[in-house]
Amino acid sequence: MKTVKDLSLSGKRVLIRVDFNVPLKEGKITDDTRIRESLPTIEYCLKNGSSVIACAHMGRPKGTVNLKYSLEPVAARLSELLKKPVQFSKDCIGAEAKAKSASLKPGEILLLENLRFHPEEEKNVESFAKELASLADVFVQDAFGAVHRAHASTSAIAQFLPSAAGFLLEKEISTLTKVLKNPARPFVAILGGAKVSDKIGVIQNLSKVADTIIIGGAMAYTFLKSQGISVGKSLVEEDKLDLAKDLLANTKNLVLPVDHKVADKFEKGAKVQTTQGQAIDGDWIGIDVGPKSSQKIETILASAKTILWNGPLGVFEIPEFAEGTLSCARAIAKATEKGAFSVVGGGDSVAAVTQGGFAKTVSHISTGGGASLEFLEGITLPGVAAIEGAVHV
Ligand code: 3PG
Repeated sequence: MKTVKDLSLSGKRVLIRVDFNVPLKEGKITDDTRIRESLPTIEYCLKNGSSVIACAHMGRPKGTVNLKYSLEPVAARLSELLKKPVQFSKDCIGAEAKAKSASLKPGEILLLENLRFHPEEEKNVESFAKELASLADVFVQDAFGAVHRAHASTSAIAQFLPSAAGFLLEKEISTLTKVLKNPARPFVAILGGAKVSDKIGVIQNLSKVADTIIIGGAMAYTFLKSQGISVGKSLVEEDKLDLAKDLLANTKNLVLPVDHKVADKFEKGAKVQTTQGQAIDGDWIGIDVGPKSSQKIETILASAKTILWNGPLGVFEIPEFAEGTLSCARAIAKATEKGAFSVVGGGDSVAAVTQGGFAKTVSHISTGGGASLEFLEGITLPGVAAIEGAVHV
């Protein structure tokens, strides 16, 4: 893949697609990881004699202007991090965007308003991509979290400008490729989350390469029920029972929880107890893995040389049900300190690692949720394919 280092940057205006889809609470950014991770590429361009026009999406405004999803708070944070002014255009195309990008001097940066305020972005409309492209001389794709989308700023854009990958995209792809193609063994994958249906492709693809796949989260109940084990009132995808049975029969070393935390209701303050084994009785609802499962996971991870984790093992957003997920984060950090290479992706797993204070211990934290899952499934990511097939000058 051609990278930003292959582009001639001096005196050029560089359009960089970044993933600035950060969590906001009352207009304040609560986690700026994605902004920080975009800095190496932006700073490299600014230092190498170009001006930067950054473009991104925020949330899902569905093609209309909704200031709840404005990127303006991000411009302020980016300016603090870069320690220089960041100009802002209230529309990503049109007169203001044109005038502001045309007047940029080398070393200056402009952030464009949310691309998704235009329906053409998500529809991958060429004329919209061409308008965006007209603001710049070269294009750099660095929005790893968005390259699984075939949108105008991830796909069509590369037809109109010399294009290359930024440092974040390059780092994410090379790290995940190393895990899939050349993992140090044993390679242990931990997959959590609510639905088997979200993870089928990943389980199938990882089963070709991982030595052990640990299953947690609500999807474990579908697997257990498919084996005839009672799961009480736990969340089950009834229409995926046969598939779960097949996956269990055809995947070597698929490990399920051996006990559970269960609750009488699915909310804060619920009555909680721990089961003795895999079965969940009566009206109880499974909400987390139990202590024996956590111990088993820790033991498996202790000898792992490569670890990949995506998805929470319990209802992580409710603090009383978060222990299984936090204990998994702890075990991964411990294994990493002993020399394992660990990769964590997906919102709740990353939040658990950060909350536990292990963000610096884990080898790689992916900035992409859906993008990393699709990559692990073996799917070609449209935003990467666009760069690979781009017009090179
Ligand atoms: C993400 O948050 O995973 C990315 O920014 C992609 O966002 P999307 O799922 O709305 O396309």
